[in-house]
Amino acid sequence: MKSSEPVAVVTGGASGIGRAIALRLLAAGMRVVVGDVNAANGARLLSEAGDPGTLRFVVTDVAQEADVAALIDTAVRDFGGLDVLVNNAGVGGAFGPLTDIDAADWDRTFAVIGRGVFLGTKYGARVMISAGTGGSIVNMSSAAGLVGGAGPLAYSAAKAAVVNFTANAAVELAPHRIRVNAVCPGLIDTPMVMGRNRAAIVDGLPAVQPWPDLGTPEHIAGLVHFLAGPDSEFVTGEAIRADGGMLAWGPRMESAHDRTGATRRFAGFADGSTGRPTVKRALDGPSS
Ligand SMILES: NC(=O)c1ccc[n+]([C@@H]2O[C@H](COP(=O)([O-])OP(=O)(O)OC[C@H]3O[C@@H](n4cnc5c(N)ncnc54)[C@H](O)[C@@H]3O)[C@@H](O)[C@H]2O)c1
Repeated sequence: MKSSEPVAVVTGGASGIGRAIALRLLAAGMRVVVGDVNAANGARLLSEAGDPGTLRFVVTDVAQEADVAALIDTAVRDFGGLDVLVNNAGVGGAFGPLTDIDAADWDRTFAVIGRGVFLGTKYGARVMISAGTGGSIVNMSSAAGLVGGAGPLAYSAAKAAVVNFTANAAVELAPHRIRVNAVCPGLIDTPMVMGRNRAAIVDGLPAVQPWPDLGTPEHIAGLVHFLAGPDSEFVTGEAIRADGGMLAWGPRMESAHDRTGATRRFAGFADGSTGRPTVKRALDGPSS
């Protein structure tokens, strides 16, 4: 029998962003089932999270259909249903020059990131559709899925697939009032990206991200909580960036043609090829 607290499943919830999401949804009063391949980190989460009555951990490989089916079943059996599904599990996957990537490593990357999101949505949506009470599915993509140059090739291609899958799933599931959105984080302080190279990454941050602070798992958990709940009721099919303005910075052409920063020291109006003169005033005093 389902009580009124929403039930959430979070994949990859034993570490980093997924762990922060699980803790955030628990703190918001939800009951949460975490699925992850890392049993040791799952046990740590269970022992640290407090009330065991509202949290379950299931060893799950999201690339395995039977595992994903069993994970969703746990939510139904133990907590009575499923309202929120966060397809978050991920790995860095295949890396190196594309001429040297093993096809099997390419497939494994897509198996975790692409197939994992598909399988979660397939089994999660089945439960939500048969309950008839709607739901929210959040898929973890990446800024790397939106442009080149933000992650390894196979990883980025798989994350791009997640964005497109999200749009089509949102359309297909909308009649059931099941929303499907993707989150595209930038650089986030988790073991996956910061593990070996934290100091160098923090050092290089100002060159790639305008926001002065490093992204945290909690930043992403806040956005997922919003997408999971009623405040985002009319939002579906979106891919929302949470990247400290990294992609908003774009190609930075201004700094290529204005190396001295002159455009910051004047204000005015450039009239282009109209024949009228450019009007400008120095910001420390009026001029034209
Ligand atoms: N950290 C970042 O900067 C960043 C940026 C953009 C997107 N992301 C995405 O956020 C998600 C979480 O990454 P994170 O940074 O927290 O990394 P993380 O390594 O801290 O956590 C990832 C979790 O996923 C689990 N996992 C891996 N493969 C799995 C599988 N086949 N089945 C089940 N669980 C599996 C791992 O065991 C781990 O607990 C990933 O999808 C990642 O691609 C991270």
